[in-house]
Amino acid sequence: MSVRRLAEEAVQPASFAFTEENAAWARQAIKKYPEGRQASAVIPLLMRAQEQEGWVSRATIEYVADMLGMPYIRVLEVATFYTQFQIKPVGTRAHVQVCGTTPCMLRGAGDLMEVCRSKIHPEQLHTNADGTLSWEEVECQGACVNAPMVMIFKDTYEDLTPERLAEIIDEFEAGKGGEVPTGPQNGRTFSAPQAGLTTLTDETVFFKESRDREEKARARAAGAEAATVAPTQAAKPKTDAIETSPAIRTPSKVKASPAAEAAVSVKAPAGDKAAADKAASGKPRSHSGKPAEAAHAFRSPELGGDRPAVSLDDPNRPAAIDRPAQPDDLQMIAGVGPKNERLLNELGIYTFAQIAAWKAAEREWVDSYLRFKGRIEREEWVRQAEALARGGEAEYVRVFGRKPR
Ligand code: FES
Repeated sequence: MSVRRLAEEAVQPASFAFTEENAAWARQAIKKYPEGRQASAVIPLLMRAQEQEGWVSRATIEYVADMLGMPYIRVLEVATFYTQFQIKPVGTRAHVQVCGTTPCMLRGAGDLMEVCRSKIHPEQLHTNADGTLSWEEVECQGACVNAPMVMIFKDTYEDLTPERLAEIIDEFEAGKGGEVPTGPQNGRTFSAPQAGLTTLTDETVFFKESRDREEKARARAAGAEAATVAPTQAAKPKTDAIETSPAIRTPSKVKASPAAEAAVSVKAPAGDKAAADKAASGKPRSHSGKPAEAAHAFRSPELGGDRPAVSLDDPNRPAAIDRPAQPDDLQMIAGVGPKNERLLNELGIYTFAQIAAWKAAEREWVDSYLRFKGRIEREEWVRQAEALARGGEAEYVRVFGRKPR
C-alpha cells in the first residue's frame, strides 16, 4: 500500500472553483443533509471536484472545506484515506489501481503490477511519457472472489491474467477504454463457477417457484394416472353411511345394503310428481325429471366424493366433439377458469356454440358433473356463450356492458 501524500507543490494549482453547473449541483447536495450536518456532503463534493479536474488538489480540499464549514485537516483526512480520490495528477486515459490485498496477491496481483511497471511506469503514481496512463497499488476493492482484479476509474476488471491486463491497458491507451467489457475477463457470469454449478445444482432446493412447478407437474401426472387406474377399494370404511354406499358409486353394479337404500330413499311430498314416480318405480330420476339410464349412479354434489357425480352415459350429457384445430377460449365465459375449461374439454366441449346450445337438462347434467350447485344458471353461461358465439368480444360487451374475462 502506498503512502498517500498530496502532490508536490510544483503541480498544485493556485486555486479551484466548481463550474457554475457543479456549484449548483453541490448546493443541492448539501441541502440533502439536516442543519448542522452539512459536513456529510464531503465525499460527494470531493468526487464531483475530481470528476471536474481529474484529481483532488490542495486548493480543491480547501475550497470544499470552506463550502462545508469544515477544518481543512478534516477534508484532507478524507481525501487521503480513500483511494478512490486521486491526490496527484493521474493518467488522462486510465489510472490503473491494482488490488494488492491477500486474496488478489495469492492469485497473481504481483504479476499484474509487473505489467503496469513495464507498460506504464516503473513507479506507481507516475504517469507515462504522454501523461495518458498511470497506476498504483490499492487495498481490497471488494471483488476478492474474482481475484486478481484492477479498478480503472469507476469500473472493475476481474479474473485477470497479465496478458489480459496488457490488452486492456492497450485499449485504454488507444482511447477505446469504453469498449472493454467490465467485470470478469474469463467469460464467467459475475462470480458464478466458470465450468457450471458444482453445488446447489437442484434449483428446487432454493427456488420456491421451481418447487411449485415440479409439484404441479407431479400432481398432473398423478391425475392422468388416476384417470387410467381403477379406484382402489382399499381403506374404504365398511359402513352403511350414505357417503360410503356402493350404490352411489358411478358406475356401480353393486346393490346397496337395505340400510343404505332406506337412507337415500326420499319420501315424496304431496304434489311432487318426480319424487312420487321415483318412489313408485324404485328408480331415481335425473334432475330433468327424465329417467336416467344409469340413474342409480347419480350422486348429489352435496355428498362430495370422486368426480363424476353423474353418469357419463346419461342421455342428458351434452354431445361431445373432437377437439377442433382452433378451440374457443372458454375462459372468456365468466365462471370458467383454467380448471373448469379443462374439465369441459375432457367432456368434448370446446366451443361457445356447444354451450350456447345446451338445453335445461344438459345444463343440469353439467352443473351436477362439476358440482356447481346451480352456478351455470346463476352465472348465465349459456347467455354468455350465445353472445360470444354470435359476435365475439364486441357482442359480449354490447349484451353485458362489460368485457369478457
Ligand atoms: S483482495 Fe483484491 S479485491 Fe479484495
